[in-house]
Amino acid sequence: MAKAKFFLASILLGSLLATVCKSFPDGDFIKLLPETRPQPGQSSDPSHWAKIAKQDLQTATDVLRQTKENRAKNAILFLGDGMGVPSITVGRILKGQLAGNSGEEEILEFERFPHTGLSKTYNTDMQTPDSAGTATAFLCGVKAKSGTMGVNEQVISRNCTSQLKERNVMSFLNEAQQLGKSVGIVTTTRITHATPGAAYSHTASRDWEDDTERNSDVPNVNERSMCPDIAEQLVEYAINYTVIFGGGRLKFLPKNEITIDPITGRNVSGSRSDSVNLINKWKQRQEGYGRRPVYLETRKELQDTPTDPNAAYFGLFAMSHLRYDLDNQKDGKEPTLEEMTRKAIEILSQNPNGFALLVEGADPGGDDEKGD
Ligand SMILES: *[C@@H]1O[C@H](CO)[C@@H](O)[C@H](O)[C@H]1NC(C)=O
Ligand SMILES: *[C@@H]1O[C@H](CO)[C@@H](O)[C@H](O)[C@H]1NC(C)=O
Ligand SMILES: *[C@@H]1O[C@H](CO)[C@@H](O)[C@H](O)[C@H]1NC(C)=O
Repeated sequence: MAKAKFFLASILLGSLLATVCKSFPDGDFIKLLPETRPQPGQSSDPSHWAKIAKQDLQTATDVLRQTKENRAKNAILFLGDGMGVPSITVGRILKGQLAGNSGEEEILEFERFPHTGLSKTYNTDMQTPDSAGTATAFLCGVKAKSGTMGVNEQVISRNCTSQLKERNVMSFLNEAQQLGKSVGIVTTTRITHATPGAAYSHTASRDWEDDTERNSDVPNVNERSMCPDIAEQLVEYAINYTVIFGGGRLKFLPKNEITIDPITGRNVSGSRSDSVNLINKWKQRQEGYGRRPVYLETRKELQDTPTDPNAAYFGLFAMSHLRYDLDNQKDGKEPTLEEMTRKAIEILSQNPNGFALLVEGADPGGDDEKGD
């Protein structure tokens, strides 16, 4: 899935995000220099990207200081996967036409923001980048190879033994956590998919969402402990996230366990080969940290759940991806992106130190391709 990435960051936090922040005051573009691509081998050092990011952030904050804006307490990164300029144009025209006009004259809400910019999230080994490498760029501030997540450029796609711990890079959500902020992810994809996965996992392949998929690429049993699957990593590395809402329930359940698909009412088996129920593991680990685990499966459960400062929330609302909004509107069985986002903000705002939240709507680019 090769996809251009476009995103808006209304508020930005942390130096690692800086490469993506190119704001400008009225009519005055911030003049950024092209990134220098170092000699082969050098660019894999994350400090190379951090240095560029710091310079860009300095340029941006110098301008923002002139406009007397203060440091942000919260950061929300909204990401439309595949939402390039053509998709935005399509959306703007549709919005206008639904309002009974010809369409082109319409304006989208985020086009009214005082600061906007375009970001470059390229992969180091491919001209048309993929969601995993680009998510690593905009979440972790480091350019990486296509298909890899949360790792630097030295990790080779699908190569388990190249996935060394010292090659891991950290996302801005983890940075925010170290500042005492609460953290959350909301997505309409499987929570183990490329964009959300790059926030918490470190992997040579975006396809290793469960151990069954990982095992088929890594036949050598002795190597497997070097590259745990993405669902398994969620329970390890995203364990202190306060909110995790999305789809992909089957990646967390073993093949010998059955769960009911709320859309069809049918029994479905999990997809894990290791016989581990990761949902139960998540609950146990939350209790171990003294938090009340709140696991949710339906829209009604999401609506009814109270906002509790001592709880951690894990919602897996679909077996795989959530449905497109137009399809969901027929029976309204799944929560909407808006409902999940509102709930997440309600929960995360309880922290006086602020929060960082990643919200992904997938995948407008794909919809356009299908003429949906
Ligand atoms: C996989 O990575 C290891 C360690 O970086 C390397 O020695 C090996 O040659 C790589 N294998 C392939 C097929 O690229
Ligand atoms: C989660 O929080 C606990 C308790 O503060 C800490 O010991 C642990 O290292 C944290 N884990 C991660 C992955 O951040
Ligand atoms: C689903 O599985 C349960 C047992 O786990 C069984 O009682 C129920 O009849 C099954 N439902 C369907 C529709 O197969």
